[in-house]
Amino acid sequence: MSNNTVTLNFSDGREPIELPVLDSSMGNPVIDIRMLAAHGIYTLDAGFTSTASCESGITFIDGDEGLLSHRGYDIEDLAYKSDFIEVCYLLLYGELPTAAQKHAFESSIRHHSMVHDQVVNVFRGFRRDAHPMALMIGVTGAMSAFYPDAHDVFDPAVRDLAAHRLLAKVPTVAAWAHKYNLGEPFMYPQHRLGYAANFLYMMQATPCENYEVNPVLARALERIFILHADHEQNASTSTVRLAGSTGATPFACIAAGMASLWGPLHGGANEAVLKMLEEIGDVSKIPEIIERAKDKTNPFRLMGFGHRIYKNFDPRAKVIRETAHEVLNELDMNDDPLFKVALELERIALEDEYFIEKKLYPNVDFYSGIVFRALGIPSSMFTPLFALARTAGWVAQWSEMLSSPGHKIGRPRQRYIGEKMREYVPLEKRTG
Ligand code: ACO
Repeated sequence: MSNNTVTLNFSDGREPIELPVLDSSMGNPVIDIRMLAAHGIYTLDAGFTSTASCESGITFIDGDEGLLSHRGYDIEDLAYKSDFIEVCYLLLYGELPTAAQKHAFESSIRHHSMVHDQVVNVFRGFRRDAHPMALMIGVTGAMSAFYPDAHDVFDPAVRDLAAHRLLAKVPTVAAWAHKYNLGEPFMYPQHRLGYAANFLYMMQATPCENYEVNPVLARALERIFILHADHEQNASTSTVRLAGSTGATPFACIAAGMASLWGPLHGGANEAVLKMLEEIGDVSKIPEIIERAKDKTNPFRLMGFGHRIYKNFDPRAKVIRETAHEVLNELDMNDDPLFKVALELERIALEDEYFIEKKLYPNVDFYSGIVFRALGIPSSMFTPLFALARTAGWVAQWSEMLSSPGHKIGRPRQRYIGEKMREYVPLEKRTG
């Protein structure tokens, strides 16, 4: 622990304030400003670009080095050597499970994967063409009514059960949202299948015929789930934490996270990449699209390129690119025109001075749409799949927050820029 401090000096003659600088176990130290409120001083940082909203031991990102790690494990190791259940356990409990712990955890998740039968009625209240994210938000939030025993969130056992239920049931809700859109019968979870395989089954099987899950495709999906499981204090995770800080029921908190994820600036980019690749259509059009992306007078951006935090490369993009190769190979789709366009677009952009200078690299979304499309997953389901995977991070972060000593309700301050106090004017005297 360093004894570094910074001193806040005021030009109006007030006493300086000394603030401690706290080391992080990896990454930048942070200035601890918590004592400022006692001096009647607040800081302004809309968008949280310079402000840590919490202390967390779950995920670490070094954007300059292209590093993403969970509980100290590199994301590439987890993606290639673990399965999603292990990663969920790791996020939630801090360690990779032993074989016995994994067996017990997996059994518990399987056991909770069915939803209450009356949840079907909640689905039926929605329009058939409702966006699957609207269905997911509504149904996940409604589950708080089915589990009133989840309200005592300051009890660790209650939190644990809620986390298991959410990890188990959100895939069922996501698959059923798709089935509801199609007008097909809901398919019940299969305990014999792994996490991703079961999800593919619930989404793609029908009662009329046998459905065999292709293990290569299930493994690819599992890897995508791992890559999306957690990403530190992003908008949706911060939403879950803020909602959860009040002691709200976890089903409502996760529904709030889903609502935040739904926005195009957060969970919607892979859909935009696919649309862009379809519009390009042919490698001959790539130079034109690159010029458009570089043109300052044109708002167009190369979708799937660039990241707010990763300024070297996005480690998840590397894994997804390889996964795309595996999936297209397995499905005999190596000549897929969209994949060819993507590979060539990436090659040309990475050699272009504009993209090199601005440190713009393919992000996780650049290839995930191609994999989803090859798996037969429609673009309306891209964000629901992201939400399904991110539920792992959300429940872990929610649980970490509520178990932290000195837990406080999240209550940001503001800089007021409205009217000063003024006289109330009765209706008959108001003009203009
Ligand atoms: N294509 C062309 N130029 C770009 C791109 C792009 N994809 N991304 C950034 N730039 C340029 C900007 O025009 C800007 O140029 P300037 O310095 O001359 O003004 C410079 O690079 C820096 O861009 P900013 O927008 O300031 O970078 P920021 O970190 O705020 O944005 C973002 C990151 C939003 C991801 C941006 O790169 C982008 O819009 N990418 C395309 C959309 C996308 O793929 N989003 C998914 C992100 S991954 C995720 O959310 C899971």
